[in-house]
Amino acid sequence: MKETDSSVTSFRKDEHILLCLENDVQYSGITNGFDDIEIEPSLLTQFSLEEIDLATTFLSKEVKYPIIVSGMTGGSKNGRVFNESVARICSEFKIGMGVGSQRAALEDPKLVNTYEVRHIAPNIPLIANLGIAQFIQGYNHVQAQKAITMIGADALAIHINPLQEFVQGEGDKDQTKALEKIVALKQEFEYPIIIKGVGTGLTKVDAKSLSQLEVYALDVAGAGGTNWSRIEFYRNEDVKYLSDKFLNWGISTKNSLMNVVDFSEGKETKIIASGGVWSGFDAVKALLLGADYVALALPILRSIGKGGIDECRKFLSTYILEMKAVMAMLNVKNLEELKKERHKILDNI
Ligand SMILES: Cc1cc2nc3c(=O)[nH]c(=O)nc-3n(C[C@H](O)[C@H](O)[C@H](O)COP(=O)(O)O)c2cc1C
Repeated sequence: MKETDSSVTSFRKDEHILLCLENDVQYSGITNGFDDIEIEPSLLTQFSLEEIDLATTFLSKEVKYPIIVSGMTGGSKNGRVFNESVARICSEFKIGMGVGSQRAALEDPKLVNTYEVRHIAPNIPLIANLGIAQFIQGYNHVQAQKAITMIGADALAIHINPLQEFVQGEGDKDQTKALEKIVALKQEFEYPIIIKGVGTGLTKVDAKSLSQLEVYALDVAGAGGTNWSRIEFYRNEDVKYLSDKFLNWGISTKNSLMNVVDFSEGKETKIIASGGVWSGFDAVKALLLGADYVALALPILRSIGKGGIDECRKFLSTYILEMKAVMAMLNVKNLEELKKERHKILDNI
C-alpha cells in the first residue's frame, strides 16, 4: 500500500460524516416502506409500559434492546471522538455497536486507536467492519482476524456496496466475485460474519444466495435512509450529470427485509433491518415482519451532531419508549411473544 492511501481513506471518512451532517443525504421519492404496513392500536392494553421487556441476545451477549448502532467511522481524530461517544451510549443502553471500515487502520497501524472502544464499552456486542472490495483485492482471513483483534470484536461485518463504489471517484469498480470471497473467508475464519449492504437493499436473488451462506446475520440495509450514491455524487464533480432517478435507485427497507425473510425460514441466520428505520414505530413493524434486530446509523450520527451524547440519549430513550408503547398497544409483552403473534397481528388488518 502507498503511504498516502490511509490518509485518503481517513479524509474520505471525515468528509462522509460532514456531508451527512450538513446535507440532504436521504433517499427522496422512496421511503423505507413501513407506512405500507398497517397495525392497529388496542385501547384495552394488558401490560403497563414498565412490563414491556425488549431484552434479547445478540452475538451470544445479553442486550437490553434489539437495537444496533451501525458501523460508521474511524480512521481519523474526529472518527475516534465519534466512536467513543457511540460506545458510551451503547454501553449505557446495553446495545450492540459497529465501527466503520477498518481498512485505514490495517493500512496504517497509527490509526488503530481511532476504532478502539473496548475500554469504554467492555461488555457490549462489538462488530468489526471491512468492505468486500478489499477481499476482492486480496484480503483474506488474516486481515479479517486482525480487524477482530484490533478492537476485541465479537463479529465481522462485511459491507457490499457496488453502487457507492461505482459513483465514488476513487471507488473500486470491480465488485465481482463477492459470493466466492465470502465462501472462502467463512471456511478459514472462526468468528461470526454479518453481511450488510449500505442502503440499496437486497433483491430476492441476492437474498437467496446470501441466505445459503448461513452466515451469522444478514443486514438488509434497504433504501429509505442514508443514500450512498447521493453522498458520493456530492463528492465527485465528474458524475454531475447522473440522473436523479438513478441516484434514488434502491429497494425499500420493508421490501428488502421481506425478500430476506422469505429465504431465511428455518435457518439460523439472524436478520437485521436497517436503512431509514427512523422511529420506534418503524422498528416494531420491522420486528413484526421477521427482523431480529434493527440497526441505525444516520439518526444516531445526527443526534450526536446536534447535541452530543445527551441528545443521542434523548433520541434513543424516545425511540425505545415508542417501541414499548407500540408493543403495549399490540398486547405483546416481550420479543418472544411478538414473534409468536406476528402473523396474527399482521393478518388482523
Ligand atoms: C457517516 C456514515 C458512515 C458509514 N460508514 C460505513 C462503513 O464504514 N462501513 C459500513 O459497513 N457501513 C457504513 N455506513 C452505512 C451504515 O452502517 C448503514 O448501513 C446505512 O447508513 C443505513 O442505515 P441508516 O439509514 O440508518 O443510515 C455508514 C453510514 C454513515 C451515515
